[in-house]
Amino acid sequence: MAGKHALNIVKMKRMKQEGEPISMITAYDYPSAVLAEEAGVDMILVGDSLGNVVLGYNTTIPVTLDDMVYHSRAVARGAEHTFIVTDMPFMTYHGGINETLGSVRRIMQEGHAHAVKMEGGAEIADTIKIIVQSGVPVLGHIGLTPQSVNQIGGYRIQGKDEADAKRLLEDARALEQAGAFGIVLELVTEEVAAYISSQLSIPTIGIGAGRGCDGQVLVYHDVLKYTSNYRNKRFVKTYGDIGEQIRNSITAYVQEVKARQFPAEEHVFAAEDGVLDNLYGKGKAESNS
Ligand code: KIV
Repeated sequence: MAGKHALNIVKMKRMKQEGEPISMITAYDYPSAVLAEEAGVDMILVGDSLGNVVLGYNTTIPVTLDDMVYHSRAVARGAEHTFIVTDMPFMTYHGGINETLGSVRRIMQEGHAHAVKMEGGAEIADTIKIIVQSGVPVLGHIGLTPQSVNQIGGYRIQGKDEADAKRLLEDARALEQAGAFGIVLELVTEEVAAYISSQLSIPTIGIGAGRGCDGQVLVYHDVLKYTSNYRNKRFVKTYGDIGEQIRNSITAYVQEVKARQFPAEEHVFAAEDGVLDNLYGKGKAESNS
C-alpha cells in the first residue's frame, strides 16, 4: 500500500494500550499478499494452514520448512509494507537449539519474514527466549494448536473448565516472560481469552477466541470462501464467495470455448494486409520457382 509503513512490535504494544484492535489475515502467495496489503491489514500470517487450504493436506503436520520458506518469500514480495509473521512448521523447533535457530534463520533470511510464530506454552518458553535474544520477534500460539492435533484428540474448544483456564493463563504468562511480542489464542472460550488478554502487557490475537482479544486473525480462504467445499465454522465470518465466482467463471469459459464463442473478434490480432498472399499465395509461389 503506497505510503504505508509496516507495523512493528513496539507499535503493536502501543495499539493494545490504546485499545486499537489489530487486524491480521493469512496469505500464502504473491496475489493474496498484494490484496491483503491493499486492503490495509495490520499483519499478515504465512500460516502453516497452507497445508490445508493450499496444499490439500488434512492437517498441518506434513508442511515442511521448505514449504514455509517458499510461500513466505512469495508473500514478502507481494506485501513489502506489511509486518509478516511466518509459522515454524511441525517439529522444526523441538530438537536441538542449533537446529531450531537454523530453521528460524531460513524463515527470516530466505522467507523474508519479520517474525516467526510457534505453537506451544511453557514447554517452549526457553526456546523462545533464545530466539528472541538472537533478535527475532516471536508470536506465541496457545489454545488449540493444530500441530498437536493427534495429542489433543481433535479440534476442540480450549479453556472450558477451571484447570484448562489456569493452564492457558500460565502458558500465556510463560510466553510473555520469554519475550514473545504477542500470542495467538485459538479456539479459546471468550471469558478465558478476555481474562488472559487483560492480564498481559503484550497483545493477544484471537481466532475463535471471542471479542476480548486485542486483535483478530482469520484464514484468507475462510474469509473469502475460497474453496470448492466451504464448511461453515462458528468462529468465522465470510465476507465473500470467491469459490463460487471462480467456479462460475471457469464454467462460462469452458462453455464458450466449446461453443467457439471465445476467442471473439476483439481478442485476436491481425497481420498486415496480404501477408499470407505474399508469403504463400499463388503469385509468390510462381515467382519463387
Ligand atoms: O496456520 C494458521 O493459519 C494459524 C492461524 C489459524 C492462527 O496458525
